[in-house]
Amino acid sequence: MSIERSAETNEAQIAVHWKEEEYVRSSAKFIGQANLVDPAITERFSEKNFPECFREYADMLSWDRYWHTTLDTSNPPFWKWFVGGKLNVCSNCVDRHLAQYGNKAAFIFVPEPEYEPVYTITYQELFTRVNEVAAVLRTFCGLEKGDRVTIHMPMIPELPITMLACARLGIIHSVVFGGFSGEAAGLRASDSGSRVMIYSDGYYRNGKIIDHKSSADIALEAAAKAGTKIEKVLVWRRHQGQDLSKKPMVQGRDYFMDEVLLNFKRAKVDAVSMDAEDPLFLMYTSGTTGQPKGCQHRTGGYLAYVAGTSKYYQDIHPEDVYWCMADIGWITGHSYIVYGPLALAGTSVLYEGVPNYPDAGRPWRIAEQLDVNIFHTSPTAIRMLRKAGPEEPKKYHYHFKHMTTVGEPIEPAAWRWYYDVVGKREAVIVDTWWQTENGGFLCTTKPALDPMKPGSAGPPALGIFPIIYDEEGKEVPAGSGRAGNICIRNPWPGIMQTVWGDSDRFVKQYYQKYCKNSKSTDWRDWPYFAADGAVLAADGYYRILGRVDDVINVAGHRLGTKEVESACLTVPEVAEAAVVPVIDEIRGRMPVVYISLKPGVEDVERVTEQIISTIETMIGKIARPKAVHTVPDLPKTRSGKIMRRVLAAISNAMDPGDVTTLANPDIVELIRRQVQGAGPVVLKEGPEDLKQFGANE
Ligand code: WTA
Repeated sequence: MSIERSAETNEAQIAVHWKEEEYVRSSAKFIGQANLVDPAITERFSEKNFPECFREYADMLSWDRYWHTTLDTSNPPFWKWFVGGKLNVCSNCVDRHLAQYGNKAAFIFVPEPEYEPVYTITYQELFTRVNEVAAVLRTFCGLEKGDRVTIHMPMIPELPITMLACARLGIIHSVVFGGFSGEAAGLRASDSGSRVMIYSDGYYRNGKIIDHKSSADIALEAAAKAGTKIEKVLVWRRHQGQDLSKKPMVQGRDYFMDEVLLNFKRAKVDAVSMDAEDPLFLMYTSGTTGQPKGCQHRTGGYLAYVAGTSKYYQDIHPEDVYWCMADIGWITGHSYIVYGPLALAGTSVLYEGVPNYPDAGRPWRIAEQLDVNIFHTSPTAIRMLRKAGPEEPKKYHYHFKHMTTVGEPIEPAAWRWYYDVVGKREAVIVDTWWQTENGGFLCTTKPALDPMKPGSAGPPALGIFPIIYDEEGKEVPAGSGRAGNICIRNPWPGIMQTVWGDSDRFVKQYYQKYCKNSKSTDWRDWPYFAADGAVLAADGYYRILGRVDDVINVAGHRLGTKEVESACLTVPEVAEAAVVPVIDEIRGRMPVVYISLKPGVEDVERVTEQIISTIETMIGKIARPKAVHTVPDLPKTRSGKIMRRVLAAISNAMDPGDVTTLANPDIVELIRRQVQGAGPVVLKEGPEDLKQFGANE
């Protein structure tokens, strides 16, 4: 298909041609044991039963006081769920399981070094450890309900223990992914108004010891510059009594947790009964504008939603061994390593390291050793393991009944390897589409009820009513083959409450675009804008195409192009910077940087190095660009706007469209030659998110 359009054309209406895949059906064996096998569920969660249908999820929890109103829409889009209800998340995830499951594994921790033993934390042990940590937070740190704490930690059991201890007291935790830089953690801590930060001294990653405590000092400096004084830093030691960090502890500020805990042996702390609407945690994520925003999640609705979706879509039973190979520092880890599985008395595996360390057989050895039967990962990990060891899974005697993919679109070829080789054609797959903002799954098949379709997330989750709009707000119908912006017409219990400290941004970012009447208190007037492109097939299956804003999805992680650009602009030699996505075989997308230099700057190599290290310091290694191109000028419109879309087209060998209306059209060919070489122009049809890139600028 040839694309005829100008650089300004709106892409949401361009046809999407893709082959419809055949359905794949789940096995009778899976269906025979599944949690959700009753087809009447669809009727129970139909629109006419909304919002009361979500009682079914909330009733999976233990409430201190039952709620009186399921959904309060009086102040849209600030929805309230299970109003009047009281509960505690920690006691729902830990205390209430003690009678029946006290001696069952809550977590199984797998250290990255294979010589270190795997160990299990039972619900009883978890209860003890969480209580002791809660006592430290309350008595030693003076923290109480409503205070915020920033946790910058890797994948070790002390991370979920600390989160649960916060939840026990109603302290709002903000976990920052361990791979983010100290500076990024410090800015997030400051935005949340944390007084305490929690670290680990170090951890193992890719065979190396990472000195993590060193980023605490940088974080505190960044927080202080942003106006927030962090009073205490608690440091968990990966090996008790041994220090993996070379950084000295700062007296009166830094404390080793194992030493503080000596004063709190067997301490017990009552779980604080929280309002359903009290915030549970913040999770910072990148959006279209400015700094990352703190998505604020509520107590009752969130836990109900993750419990319900873990039960019905992840098919977690207490006797299963469930392994989600994500990092707890992302929303997937919060919802589907910690809170969802634990609410159901599940056994959740925590793996410290990278999937292919020391080799691409590692995940399958872990699965074999622990009898993992539910496995959850991302397309990037699937592609990486497939490339590094396509035959590895066959060597190990494990059997998955269920597998999940999340975070990016998965191409049918990768899906098939996952199904045939990893799942040995025995495991059902759910492709779950959702976002940090959403708390839990929005589109996915019901594993025992709906057939799978490779490359499609599937029908909406129970009680979720999506719609695809074009730019003018007209519905794009099913089976039209046209892409548009996927929106959710209704509120659901897992949706975030607001952006921490910035309610305007919450309304603007997610609701302004398609709001039908800003005075209305009817939820039907307030569709949620997800910022993803999607197509809806005639059978009601949604295929997610990727972001329509300037967020780049790198290996399933969100990166704001504006954040990377501002990092580049702090390098004094840089005059202008533009960041665009480029297709990467393994990681899906990666950022590429285009810069122009200030007059007289000659040493391009040094500036390039400077740019890369600045990006890593300000954001983290995940933002490391695939390439930095120093060009004489960036393509601009006559009004001076940088045409990022043209650069994205060049980086991906796509058609940049009509560039004759630009202020400097000749620069396009010059940059093309620089990036692609002097050869002839070869243009290919690009994926939708790249064609859409910059459309909203
Ligand atoms: C993308 C991760 C296709 C999407 C849970 C979304 C997906 C962003 C899928 C959110 C999927 C997530 N198929 N794309 N199954 N799941 N995405 O906030 O672009 O880290 O907007 O949440 O990932 O990323 P986030």
